[in-house]
Amino acid sequence: MGVGRLDGKVAVITGGAGGIGAATGRLFCEEGARLVLVDRDAGAMASVCAEIRKDVPGAQLKDMIIDIGVEESAAKIVAEAQRAFGRIDVLVNNAGIRSYEPLAEAKRETWEKIISVNLLSYAYLAREALPALRASGRGSIVNVSSQHAVIPRAGMGQYDVTKAGIVSMTRTLAFEEAQHGVRVNAVCPGATLTPFHEKRFAAGGVGPAQIDAIAAGCCVLGRWAAPREIAYPILWLASDEASFVTGAALMADGGGFSPS
Ligand SMILES: NC(=O)c1ccc[n+]([C@@H]2O[C@H](COP(=O)([O-])OP(=O)(O)OC[C@H]3O[C@@H](n4cnc5c(N)ncnc54)[C@H](O)[C@@H]3O)[C@@H](O)[C@H]2O)c1
Repeated sequence: MGVGRLDGKVAVITGGAGGIGAATGRLFCEEGARLVLVDRDAGAMASVCAEIRKDVPGAQLKDMIIDIGVEESAAKIVAEAQRAFGRIDVLVNNAGIRSYEPLAEAKRETWEKIISVNLLSYAYLAREALPALRASGRGSIVNVSSQHAVIPRAGMGQYDVTKAGIVSMTRTLAFEEAQHGVRVNAVCPGATLTPFHEKRFAAGGVGPAQIDAIAAGCCVLGRWAAPREIAYPILWLASDEASFVTGAALMADGGGFSPS
């Protein structure tokens, strides 16, 4: 169990039924937050919430099944958090989707979908939550980007563009909201072994040795991150421990790609 690093705070986490979101939700509950977990996947959400409730006695957790890829969802999520817990102190924009089209073949539908989830949902939810975050007096937004915001690669251009946009949006919001007492930061994870990746590898017949080998060349530490290793930097930026940190893009990338 935690030591109450989020005692008294109400947090909203999008993509809460996925790998990094679920790990962050669990950690936030351990640290005393009252939490709204948001996702569109009802089945995954049910098991994530059951696990957290089992392992974190007294967890104050509300789940919300909604598609954040449409603008109206943002106001509904904020209203639900206010109704359930009366305030919002922390917003973690974490939900994300991927696309594997080379830019030469990138379709308009794919562009529109990935921008609406990975970028616009972050902007709309921040906009709708800001009145409550300002009222908090110690509001914090943590936007989950990616190491590929700063190291784009071949094959996932649409995704990488949205992740770069998140870092830019984070800095603009940090500058605009400093006067209102709201800190805004980004976490840029490296390769993180989530159930999504595990299922993808299993479907492709990729075994444990190959999975380890993929990560070996990916960063200085030479391995995958566990989702909880990304949840900790999110927790820190969300908490008052990071009270002098705003506009940062914290690389949680195992040291990044080695130059040698
Ligand atoms: N896993 C990695 O290696 C990695 C690396 C860098 C960055 N990231 C980023 O971290 C974040 C979390 O990634 P993850 O690996 O846990 O992903 P994941 O696929 O396990 O989880 C993402 C969650 O978002 C939800 N979601 C997607 N679209 C939604 C929508 N329209 N409405 C509501 N919910 C929606 C999904 O249902 C899923 O539960 C993402 O933004 C991702 O881009 C992940």
